[in-house]
Amino acid sequence: MARVTRLDRVEQTTRGRFTGPPLTPRTAVIWSVLADELDRRAGAELTVLDVGGGTGGFAVPLAQAGHRVTVVDASPDALAALTRRAAEAGVAARVRAVQGDGDALAGLVEPASADLVLCHSVLEVVDDPTPVVTALAAALRPGGAASVLVAGRAAAVLARAMTGHLDVAAALAAAPDGSAGPRDTLRRRFDADGAAALLRAAGLTVEEIHGVRVLADLLPAAVADGQPGSLVELERALAARSPYRDLAAQLHLFARRPA
Ligand SMILES: C[S@@+](CC[C@H](N)C(=O)[O-])C[C@H]1O[C@@H](n2cnc3c(N)ncnc32)[C@H](O)[C@@H]1O
Repeated sequence: MARVTRLDRVEQTTRGRFTGPPLTPRTAVIWSVLADELDRRAGAELTVLDVGGGTGGFAVPLAQAGHRVTVVDASPDALAALTRRAAEAGVAARVRAVQGDGDALAGLVEPASADLVLCHSVLEVVDDPTPVVTALAAALRPGGAASVLVAGRAAAVLARAMTGHLDVAAALAAAPDGSAGPRDTLRRRFDADGAAALLRAAGLTVEEIHGVRVLADLLPAAVADGQPGSLVELERALAARSPYRDLAAQLHLFARRPA
């Protein structure tokens, strides 16, 4: 009998109820962690909050899986695209779009109401990540889980160095916030310890940390495009292992509000 891999389990979780999100090197590791939590709560209609959820790349598949998703985002354009995407997927009734700021969640959603909070690729662009993490922790019900994706600092240093921008690499490596300065597109980048400390300071228990895009950004497009299944498997194999995890372009933290 064929061995059932975690990747298979992601497909099985999504199969039958909807076609499932495409398992790309950018998302497969995150979906497999989320699939474990969805499996754990199988049968329950979860209340999901996606802070800075943008156009709904995670929100819509979660709604298709039968959950109720509120996306809070600062951008009206992103929310308009989310609304269109949810309608096209036939889940408009299960997706709520709310324009607002991540650190003002208390006035936008019921405190302690969410089973699952997503905050992907947001903490590196907001003015201050601490109030956003505090707000998302407060939005979680006791026992609820947070999925937090942040930009990794080490990968950015290596990427700048490998393209010959040694001065930028040095600035990134030295800067306490992992930003190369005012012209940098991101305000900060994280290492695993720093990101975990941020979540712990908000009262969350960090259960898992994975690297996302350990290799994906380093490979020639012909390799990445030519062997997508192999790349997904390799990303998944390396995601939790040191030193690969810490060199990933992004770090995914899965945390829980104590029950
Ligand atoms: C890089 S996109 C990530 C979108 C989505 N989470 C994903 O992973 O595909 C960042 C999103 O955060 C939103 N955003 C930025 N600052 C925010 C803030 N202070 N409060 C709420 N949303 C914010 C942006 O409008 C954008 O949609």
